[in-house]
Amino acid sequence: MDRDDIKRVVESHVEACRRSLDAGFDICEIHGAHGYVIQQFLSPITNQRNDGYGGDLAGRMRFCLELIEAVREAWPKDRPLFFRASCVDGKGGAWELDDTVALARELKTRGTDVIDCSSGGIEGPLTLAVVPRVPGYHVPFAERIRREAGIATMAVGLITQAAQAERYLAEQRCDLVALAREMMWDPNWPIHAAQQLGGVDPLDLAPKSYAWWLRRRDEVRKLYPTGKEAAE
Ligand SMILES: Cc1cc2nc3c(=O)[nH]c(=O)nc-3n(C[C@H](O)[C@H](O)[C@H](O)COP(=O)(O)O)c2cc1C
Repeated sequence: MDRDDIKRVVESHVEACRRSLDAGFDICEIHGAHGYVIQQFLSPITNQRNDGYGGDLAGRMRFCLELIEAVREAWPKDRPLFFRASCVDGKGGAWELDDTVALARELKTRGTDVIDCSSGGIEGPLTLAVVPRVPGYHVPFAERIRREAGIATMAVGLITQAAQAERYLAEQRCDLVALAREMMWDPNWPIHAAQQLGGVDPLDLAPKSYAWWLRRRDEVRKLYPTGKEAAE
């Protein structure tokens, strides 16, 4: 990529961000992880440039930071800007958590609100060798980044239980949790989690028309609490 290509890719991100705004999105998240172009600039494995966009960490971060500055300019100040980061790469040793902490500090000064903590993408699609898939496997990254860079973080990866998610938040190990596969299995996960954790009427979280019908359902269920009648 020459300088014109770099300008064009930055501008494309800005245009995408404007389209997201027109479409009514509340949050803009820039994907800086999983082997996409931003991470290709960040990682010394893929970035072998010998101009101002390569070399040391500052040089490798330059493309990312210029892009974030341009997007932040286009995205309204009162709407949060997230950055999805591969906290460590797939190989180990090339892009480490310390590098992500340094990047997060720079992103924060440029108006990024949240680091969405993921991993991998360079040197293989997964980080199984460096990040074992245990419950909440990115939480330790989210915890260190929020503590050391002073920026809000979101954790993702095998967060499946309401109490588990709540514990990470209560222990201030992250500021937000994200779920993917569990939401595919149970798209009403947030409503069920609210029901288990209490403190909020779960149906307040449902679309209004669903809530109307589900409240009627509750009334009927009160008449037949065991469900035994249906089985008989
Ligand atoms: C069907 C599917 C599609 C995904 N697509 C993306 C994607 O486009 N971009 C991305 O950053 N992560 C993507 N992911 C990864 C998830 O965002 C998430 O990080 C990962 O599944 C781990 O979280 P989980 O254990 O809650 O599923 C995808 C995951 C699934 C299951």
